[in-house]
Amino acid sequence: MTATAPEIHRGLSGVVVDTTAISTVIQETHSLTYRGYPVQDLAARCTFEEVAHLLWHGELPDAEQLRAFQAQERALRPLDRTTAEVLARLPETCHPMDVLRTAVSFFGSEDPTEDDGSIAANRTKSLSLLAKLPTVVAADHRRRHGLAPLQPDASLGYAENFFHMCFGAVPDPAVVRCFEISLILYAEHSFNASTFTARVVTSTLSDLYSAVTAAIGALKGPLHGGANEAVMHMLNEIGDPEKAGEWLDDALATKRKIMGFGHRVYKNGDSRVPIMQEATDRLVARAADPDVTRLATLHASLRHAMISRKGIHPNLDYPAGLAYHLMGFDIPTFTPIFVMSRITGWTAHITEQLEHNALIRPLGAYNGPEQRPLPGP
Ligand code: ACO
Repeated sequence: MTATAPEIHRGLSGVVVDTTAISTVIQETHSLTYRGYPVQDLAARCTFEEVAHLLWHGELPDAEQLRAFQAQERALRPLDRTTAEVLARLPETCHPMDVLRTAVSFFGSEDPTEDDGSIAANRTKSLSLLAKLPTVVAADHRRRHGLAPLQPDASLGYAENFFHMCFGAVPDPAVVRCFEISLILYAEHSFNASTFTARVVTSTLSDLYSAVTAAIGALKGPLHGGANEAVMHMLNEIGDPEKAGEWLDDALATKRKIMGFGHRVYKNGDSRVPIMQEATDRLVARAADPDVTRLATLHASLRHAMISRKGIHPNLDYPAGLAYHLMGFDIPTFTPIFVMSRITGWTAHITEQLEHNALIRPLGAYNGPEQRPLPGP
Protein backbone atom coordinates (compact mmCIF):
# COMPACT_ATOMS: atom_id res chain seq x y z
CA MET A 1 0.00 0.00 0.00
CA THR A 2 1.56 3.37 -0.98
CA ALA A 3 1.05 6.36 1.31
CA THR A 4 -0.69 9.38 -0.25
CA ALA A 5 1.81 12.17 -0.91
CA PRO A 6 1.15 15.07 1.47
CA GLU A 7 -0.01 18.35 -0.04
CA ILE A 8 2.88 20.83 0.08
CA HIS A 9 2.17 24.51 0.81
CA ARG A 10 5.52 26.03 -0.11
CA GLY A 11 5.90 29.40 1.59
CA LEU A 12 2.73 28.51 3.57
CA SER A 13 0.86 30.17 0.72
CA GLY A 14 -2.90 30.04 1.32
CA VAL A 15 -2.50 28.29 4.69
CA VAL A 16 -4.62 29.62 7.57
CA VAL A 17 -2.65 28.88 10.75
CA ASP A 18 -4.70 30.61 13.46
CA THR A 19 -7.37 33.21 14.17
CA THR A 20 -6.57 36.87 14.74
CA ALA A 21 -8.69 39.82 15.86
CA ILE A 22 -6.06 42.44 15.03
CA SER A 23 -6.38 43.09 11.30
CA THR A 24 -7.68 41.62 8.09
CA VAL A 25 -7.55 42.19 4.36
CA ILE A 26 -11.06 42.28 2.85
CA GLN A 27 -10.50 41.41 -0.80
CA GLU A 28 -14.09 42.21 -1.90
CA THR A 29 -13.92 45.82 -0.71
CA HIS A 30 -10.20 46.14 -1.41
CA SER A 31 -9.60 47.22 2.16
CA LEU A 32 -7.44 46.50 5.17
CA THR A 33 -8.94 46.97 8.63
CA TYR A 34 -7.25 47.35 12.02
CA ARG A 35 -9.60 46.12 14.76
CA GLY A 36 -12.44 46.68 12.29
CA TYR A 37 -11.55 50.22 11.17
CA PRO A 38 -10.49 50.74 7.51
CA VAL A 39 -6.86 51.80 7.41
CA GLN A 40 -7.75 54.56 4.95
CA ASP A 41 -10.02 56.16 7.59
CA LEU A 42 -7.37 55.79 10.27
CA ALA A 43 -4.78 57.40 7.98
CA ALA A 44 -7.17 60.27 7.24
CA ARG A 45 -8.28 61.02 10.80
CA CYS A 46 -5.94 59.57 13.45
CA THR A 47 -2.48 60.06 14.84
CA PHE A 48 -0.01 57.20 14.91
CA GLU A 49 -0.20 57.12 18.73
CA GLU A 50 -3.98 56.57 18.53
CA VAL A 51 -3.45 53.72 16.07
CA ALA A 52 -0.82 52.13 18.35
CA HIS A 53 -3.35 52.26 21.22
CA LEU A 54 -6.00 50.74 18.98
CA LEU A 55 -3.79 47.84 17.94
CA TRP A 56 -2.72 47.05 21.49
CA HIS A 57 -5.95 47.64 23.39
CA GLY A 58 -8.57 46.94 20.73
CA GLU A 59 -10.15 50.42 20.88
CA LEU A 60 -9.15 53.97 19.98
CA PRO A 61 -8.23 55.94 23.11
CA ASP A 62 -10.51 58.58 24.61
CA ALA A 63 -8.91 61.96 25.42
CA GLU A 64 -7.76 60.89 28.89
CA GLN A 65 -6.36 57.56 27.69
CA LEU A 66 -4.51 59.32 24.87
CA ARG A 67 -2.96 61.84 27.26
CA ALA A 68 -1.75 59.03 29.53
CA PHE A 69 -0.45 57.00 26.56
CA GLN A 70 1.45 59.98 25.16
CA ALA A 71 2.92 60.89 28.55
CA GLN A 72 4.20 57.34 29.07
CA GLU A 73 5.63 57.05 25.54
CA ARG A 74 7.39 60.42 25.75
CA ALA A 75 8.94 59.60 29.14
CA LEU A 76 10.40 56.34 27.83
CA ARG A 77 12.17 57.80 24.76
CA PRO A 78 15.72 58.48 26.13
CA LEU A 79 18.37 55.75 25.91
CA ASP A 80 20.45 55.02 28.99
CA ARG A 81 24.17 55.68 28.81
CA THR A 82 25.14 51.99 28.54
CA THR A 83 22.87 51.40 25.54
CA ALA A 84 24.18 54.52 23.82
CA GLU A 85 27.76 53.34 24.43
CA VAL A 86 27.07 49.82 23.13
CA LEU A 87 25.49 51.18 19.94
CA ALA A 88 28.31 53.68 19.43
CA ARG A 89 30.79 50.75 19.44
CA LEU A 90 29.16 49.05 16.43
CA PRO A 91 31.06 49.56 13.15
CA GLU A 92 29.80 52.59 11.22
CA THR A 93 29.38 50.32 8.21
CA CYS A 94 26.79 48.27 10.14
CA HIS A 95 23.40 48.42 8.41
CA PRO A 96 20.86 50.33 10.57
CA MET A 97 18.63 47.24 10.64
CA ASP A 98 21.53 45.36 12.26
CA VAL A 99 21.98 48.25 14.72
CA LEU A 100 18.28 48.07 15.56
CA ARG A 101 18.35 44.27 15.92
CA THR A 102 21.34 44.57 18.29
CA ALA A 103 19.62 47.36 20.24
CA VAL A 104 16.48 45.31 20.87
CA SER A 105 18.54 42.31 21.92
CA PHE A 106 20.51 44.53 24.29
CA PHE A 107 17.32 46.07 25.75
CA GLY A 108 16.29 42.49 26.58
CA SER A 109 19.51 41.85 28.47
CA GLU A 110 18.96 44.99 30.56
CA ASP A 111 15.26 44.56 31.35
CA PRO A 112 14.76 43.36 34.93
CA THR A 113 11.28 42.05 34.06
CA GLU A 114 12.62 39.92 31.20
CA ASP A 115 11.61 36.58 32.65
CA ASP A 116 8.05 37.64 33.46
CA GLY A 117 6.11 36.83 30.28
CA SER A 118 2.82 38.22 31.59
CA ILE A 119 0.65 40.30 29.28
CA ALA A 120 0.97 43.34 31.57
CA ALA A 121 4.77 43.11 31.53
CA ASN A 122 4.76 42.65 27.76
CA ARG A 123 2.63 45.78 27.33
CA THR A 124 5.22 47.79 29.30
CA LYS A 125 8.04 46.36 27.19
CA SER A 126 6.12 47.09 23.97
CA LEU A 127 5.60 50.73 24.93
CA SER A 128 9.25 51.05 25.88
CA LEU A 129 10.34 49.68 22.48
CA LEU A 130 7.88 51.93 20.64
CA ALA A 131 9.38 54.92 22.48
CA LYS A 132 13.06 53.99 22.19
CA LEU A 133 13.34 52.60 18.64
CA PRO A 134 13.14 56.07 16.99
CA THR A 135 15.86 57.30 19.36
CA VAL A 136 18.11 54.44 18.21
CA VAL A 137 17.33 54.97 14.51
CA ALA A 138 17.87 58.73 14.72
CA ALA A 139 21.13 58.44 16.67
CA ASP A 140 22.44 55.97 14.10
CA HIS A 141 21.28 58.20 11.23
CA ARG A 142 23.28 61.08 12.71
CA ARG A 143 26.30 58.88 13.47
CA ARG A 144 26.49 57.85 9.81
CA HIS A 145 26.54 61.54 8.92
CA GLY A 146 29.26 62.35 11.48
CA LEU A 147 26.85 64.13 13.84
CA ALA A 148 26.31 63.78 17.61
CA PRO A 149 22.94 62.35 18.72
CA LEU A 150 20.13 64.70 19.74
CA GLN A 151 18.04 64.05 22.82
CA PRO A 152 14.32 63.36 22.30
CA ASP A 153 11.97 66.29 22.84
CA ALA A 154 9.02 65.36 25.09
CA SER A 155 7.02 68.35 23.86
CA LEU A 156 6.79 66.77 20.38
CA GLY A 157 4.56 64.00 19.01
CA TYR A 158 6.01 60.67 17.85
CA ALA A 159 6.50 61.66 14.21
CA GLU A 160 7.68 65.23 14.90
CA ASN A 161 10.17 64.05 17.51
CA PHE A 162 11.74 61.64 15.02
CA PHE A 163 12.41 64.47 12.55
CA HIS A 164 13.81 66.57 15.39
CA MET A 165 16.18 63.76 16.50
CA CYS A 166 17.36 63.09 12.92
CA PHE A 167 17.71 66.62 11.55
CA GLY A 168 17.55 69.00 14.53
CA ALA A 169 14.39 70.54 13.05
CA VAL A 170 10.76 69.64 12.46
CA PRO A 171 9.55 70.21 8.88
CA ASP A 172 6.29 71.73 7.74
CA PRO A 173 3.24 69.94 9.30
CA ALA A 174 2.24 68.72 5.81
CA VAL A 175 5.50 66.74 5.57
CA VAL A 176 5.12 65.39 9.12
CA ARG A 177 1.59 64.27 8.25
CA CYS A 178 2.82 62.34 5.18
CA PHE A 179 5.33 60.60 7.42
CA GLU A 180 2.64 59.83 10.00
CA ILE A 181 0.41 58.38 7.28
CA SER A 182 3.23 56.02 6.29
CA LEU A 183 3.59 54.92 9.94
CA ILE A 184 -0.14 54.21 10.17
CA LEU A 185 -0.13 52.22 6.91
CA TYR A 186 2.95 50.20 7.89
CA ALA A 187 1.74 49.42 11.43
CA GLU A 188 0.02 46.08 10.92
CA HIS A 189 -0.66 43.50 8.23
CA SER A 190 -1.83 40.23 9.76
CA PHE A 191 0.38 37.13 9.38
CA ASN A 192 3.09 38.68 7.18
CA ALA A 193 6.59 37.12 7.32
CA SER A 194 8.03 39.21 10.17
CA THR A 195 4.86 39.05 12.29
CA PHE A 196 4.66 35.31 11.78
CA THR A 197 8.33 35.09 12.81
CA ALA A 198 7.47 36.94 16.04
CA ARG A 199 4.56 34.55 16.62
CA VAL A 200 6.74 31.47 15.99
CA VAL A 201 9.31 32.64 18.56
CA THR A 202 6.56 33.56 21.04
CA SER A 203 4.90 30.17 20.58
CA THR A 204 7.91 28.52 22.24
CA LEU A 205 7.23 30.77 25.28
CA SER A 206 10.41 32.68 24.58
CA ASP A 207 10.50 36.38 25.56
CA LEU A 208 9.24 39.47 23.73
CA TYR A 209 12.73 40.84 22.98
CA SER A 210 13.73 37.57 21.29
CA ALA A 211 10.54 37.63 19.21
CA VAL A 212 11.09 41.26 18.13
CA THR A 213 14.79 40.68 17.40
CA ALA A 214 13.85 37.78 15.12
CA ALA A 215 11.09 39.85 13.48
CA ILE A 216 13.58 42.61 12.66
CA GLY A 217 15.76 40.00 10.95
CA ALA A 218 12.79 38.83 8.89
CA LEU A 219 11.72 42.34 7.94
CA LYS A 220 15.22 43.25 6.72
CA GLY A 221 15.02 41.00 3.65
CA PRO A 222 14.27 42.65 0.28
CA LEU A 223 11.26 40.40 -0.36
CA HIS A 224 9.68 41.97 2.75
CA GLY A 225 10.44 45.32 4.43
CA GLY A 226 13.84 45.74 2.79
CA ALA A 227 11.95 46.41 -0.44
CA ASN A 228 11.41 50.09 0.42
CA GLU A 229 15.19 50.60 0.31
CA ALA A 230 15.53 48.42 -2.79
CA VAL A 231 12.94 50.61 -4.58
CA MET A 232 15.13 53.69 -4.18
CA HIS A 233 18.27 51.84 -5.29
CA MET A 234 16.34 50.65 -8.35
CA LEU A 235 15.13 54.17 -9.24
CA ASN A 236 18.71 55.44 -8.88
CA GLU A 237 19.94 52.61 -11.11
CA ILE A 238 17.44 53.46 -13.88
CA GLY A 239 17.95 57.21 -13.53
CA ASP A 240 16.26 58.41 -16.70
CA PRO A 241 12.44 58.25 -16.97
CA GLU A 242 12.77 57.61 -20.71
CA LYS A 243 14.63 54.37 -19.94
CA ALA A 244 12.03 52.89 -17.57
CA GLY A 245 10.34 50.64 -20.17
CA GLU A 246 13.58 49.39 -21.70
CA TRP A 247 15.11 48.77 -18.25
CA LEU A 248 12.02 46.85 -17.19
CA ASP A 249 12.06 44.64 -20.30
CA ASP A 250 15.70 43.72 -19.66
CA ALA A 251 15.03 43.08 -15.97
CA LEU A 252 12.01 40.87 -16.67
CA ALA A 253 13.92 39.00 -19.40
CA THR A 254 16.53 38.01 -16.79
CA LYS A 255 13.77 37.02 -14.30
CA ARG A 256 14.73 39.85 -11.97
CA LYS A 257 12.20 40.72 -9.24
CA ILE A 258 11.05 44.33 -9.55
CA MET A 259 11.21 45.79 -6.09
CA GLY A 260 8.08 47.37 -4.63
CA PHE A 261 5.77 45.32 -6.88
CA GLY A 262 3.67 42.26 -6.14
CA HIS A 263 2.20 40.90 -2.94
CA ARG A 264 1.40 37.49 -1.49
CA VAL A 265 -2.10 38.56 -0.43
CA TYR A 266 -3.07 41.39 -2.79
CA LYS A 267 -3.17 40.23 -6.38
CA ASN A 268 -5.05 43.25 -7.80
CA GLY A 269 -3.25 46.02 -5.94
CA ASP A 270 -2.30 46.82 -2.37
CA SER A 271 -5.14 48.68 -0.61
CA ARG A 272 -2.60 50.94 1.18
CA VAL A 273 -0.98 52.19 -2.01
CA PRO A 274 -3.49 54.85 -3.22
CA ILE A 275 -3.34 56.76 0.06
CA MET A 276 0.46 56.57 0.28
CA GLN A 277 0.81 57.52 -3.39
CA GLU A 278 -1.35 60.61 -2.78
CA ALA A 279 0.85 61.57 0.17
CA THR A 280 4.00 61.07 -1.95
CA ASP A 281 2.48 63.16 -4.77
CA ARG A 282 1.91 65.98 -2.27
CA LEU A 283 5.61 65.87 -1.34
CA VAL A 284 6.57 65.97 -5.02
CA ALA A 285 4.31 68.99 -5.64
CA ARG A 286 5.76 70.84 -2.64
CA ALA A 287 9.36 70.27 -3.75
CA ALA A 288 9.03 72.07 -7.13
CA ASP A 289 12.52 70.79 -8.01
CA PRO A 290 13.51 69.42 -11.46
CA ASP A 291 15.35 66.47 -9.94
CA VAL A 292 12.31 65.54 -7.85
CA THR A 293 10.12 65.88 -10.94
CA ARG A 294 12.49 63.52 -12.80
CA LEU A 295 12.30 60.95 -10.00
CA ALA A 296 8.50 61.23 -9.77
CA THR A 297 8.16 60.83 -13.55
CA LEU A 298 10.43 57.80 -13.50
CA HIS A 299 8.44 56.35 -10.57
CA ALA A 300 5.16 56.77 -12.48
CA SER A 301 6.62 55.45 -15.77
CA LEU A 302 7.92 52.28 -14.15
CA ARG A 303 4.59 51.73 -12.40
CA HIS A 304 2.66 52.06 -15.66
CA ALA A 305 5.13 49.83 -17.52
CA MET A 306 5.00 47.10 -14.84
CA ILE A 307 1.20 47.08 -14.72
CA SER A 308 0.86 47.03 -18.50
CA ARG A 309 3.60 44.40 -19.11
CA LYS A 310 2.95 42.02 -16.18
CA GLY A 311 -0.32 43.12 -14.56
CA ILE A 312 1.59 43.30 -11.27
CA HIS A 313 0.74 46.30 -9.07
CA PRO A 314 2.92 48.24 -6.64
CA ASN A 315 2.89 47.44 -2.93
CA LEU A 316 3.22 49.96 -0.09
CA ASP A 317 7.03 49.96 -0.31
CA TYR A 318 6.89 51.51 -3.79
CA PRO A 319 5.45 54.94 -2.86
CA ALA A 320 6.90 54.84 0.68
CA GLY A 321 10.49 54.43 -0.57
CA LEU A 322 10.24 57.56 -2.71
CA ALA A 323 8.42 59.46 0.06
CA TYR A 324 11.19 58.80 2.60
CA HIS A 325 13.79 59.99 0.09
CA LEU A 326 11.82 63.20 -0.48
CA MET A 327 11.60 63.73 3.30
CA GLY A 328 15.41 63.75 3.46
CA PHE A 329 16.15 60.32 4.96
CA ASP A 330 19.07 58.35 3.56
CA ILE A 331 18.22 54.97 2.03
CA PRO A 332 19.45 52.74 4.90
CA THR A 333 16.98 54.49 7.24
CA PHE A 334 13.89 53.42 5.26
CA THR A 335 13.43 49.89 6.64
CA PRO A 336 14.22 50.95 10.24
CA ILE A 337 11.34 53.46 9.91
CA PHE A 338 9.14 50.50 8.96
CA VAL A 339 10.27 48.83 12.23
CA MET A 340 9.35 51.96 14.25
CA SER A 341 5.82 51.47 12.98
CA ARG A 342 5.45 47.67 12.75
CA ILE A 343 6.62 47.27 16.37
CA THR A 344 2.97 47.99 17.21
CA GLY A 345 1.62 45.14 15.07
CA TRP A 346 4.34 42.69 16.10
CA THR A 347 3.76 43.22 19.81
CA ALA A 348 -0.05 43.09 19.42
CA HIS A 349 0.44 39.66 17.78
CA ILE A 350 2.85 38.53 20.52
CA THR A 351 0.13 39.26 23.10
CA GLU A 352 -2.52 37.52 20.98
CA GLN A 353 -0.30 34.46 20.47
CA LEU A 354 0.19 34.15 24.24
CA GLU A 355 -3.55 34.45 24.87
CA HIS A 356 -4.21 31.13 23.10
CA ASN A 357 -0.79 29.69 22.55
CA ALA A 358 0.05 26.54 20.61
CA LEU A 359 3.62 25.70 19.66
CA ILE A 360 4.07 26.46 15.93
CA ARG A 361 5.76 23.44 14.46
CA PRO A 362 4.82 22.45 10.88
CA LEU A 363 5.90 19.29 9.08
CA GLY A 364 8.21 18.82 6.11
CA ALA A 365 7.76 16.21 3.41
CA TYR A 366 11.08 14.32 3.37
CA ASN A 367 12.64 13.87 -0.09
CA GLY A 368 16.20 12.89 0.88
CA PRO A 369 17.90 9.47 0.58
CA GLU A 370 16.19 6.35 1.92
CA GLN A 371 17.48 4.97 5.21
CA ARG A 372 20.95 3.42 4.59
CA PRO A 373 23.88 1.98 6.52
CA LEU A 374 26.99 4.06 7.32
CA PRO A 375 29.89 3.41 4.87
CA GLY A 376 32.99 1.45 5.89
CA PRO A 377 33.51 -1.55 8.15
N1 ACO B 1 8.76 41.38 -10.12
C1 ACO B 1 8.70 40.49 -11.14
N2 ACO B 1 7.88 39.42 -11.13
C2 ACO B 1 7.10 39.27 -10.05
C3 ACO B 1 7.11 40.16 -8.97
C4 ACO B 1 7.98 41.26 -9.04
N3 ACO B 1 8.05 42.13 -8.06
N4 ACO B 1 6.23 39.75 -8.05
C5 ACO B 1 5.67 38.62 -8.53
N5 ACO B 1 6.22 38.33 -9.73
C6 ACO B 1 5.88 37.20 -10.58
C7 ACO B 1 6.77 36.01 -10.23
O1 ACO B 1 7.98 36.00 -10.95
C8 ACO B 1 5.86 34.85 -10.57
O2 ACO B 1 5.85 34.67 -11.94
P1 ACO B 1 5.84 33.19 -12.58
O3 ACO B 1 4.55 32.59 -12.11
O4 ACO B 1 5.92 33.44 -14.04
O5 ACO B 1 7.05 32.48 -12.01
C9 ACO B 1 4.48 35.36 -10.19
O6 ACO B 1 4.55 36.78 -10.30
C10 ACO B 1 4.10 35.01 -8.77
O7 ACO B 1 5.08 35.52 -7.91
P2 ACO B 1 5.55 34.86 -6.56
O8 ACO B 1 6.92 35.35 -6.21
O9 ACO B 1 5.34 33.39 -6.60
O10 ACO B 1 4.48 35.45 -5.58
P3 ACO B 1 4.62 35.51 -4.05
O11 ACO B 1 3.26 35.69 -3.54
O12 ACO B 1 5.41 34.37 -3.53
O13 ACO B 1 5.55 36.81 -3.87
C11 ACO B 1 6.48 38.82 -3.27
C12 ACO B 1 5.21 37.96 -3.28
C13 ACO B 1 7.63 38.07 -2.56
C14 ACO B 1 6.18 40.09 -2.49
C15 ACO B 1 6.88 39.13 -4.71
O14 ACO B 1 5.84 39.81 -5.35
C16 ACO B 1 8.18 39.94 -4.77
O15 ACO B 1 9.28 39.36 -4.72
N6 ACO B 1 8.07 41.31 -4.87
C17 ACO B 1 9.23 42.15 -4.86
C18 ACO B 1 9.70 42.44 -3.44
C19 ACO B 1 8.76 43.36 -2.71
O16 ACO B 1 8.36 44.39 -3.20
N7 ACO B 1 8.46 43.00 -1.46
C20 ACO B 1 7.61 43.80 -0.60
C21 ACO B 1 6.38 43.02 -0.19
S1 ACO B 1 5.20 44.06 0.64
C22 ACO B 1 5.84 44.44 2.13
O17 ACO B 1 6.65 43.76 2.69
C23 ACO B 1 5.36 45.75 2.73
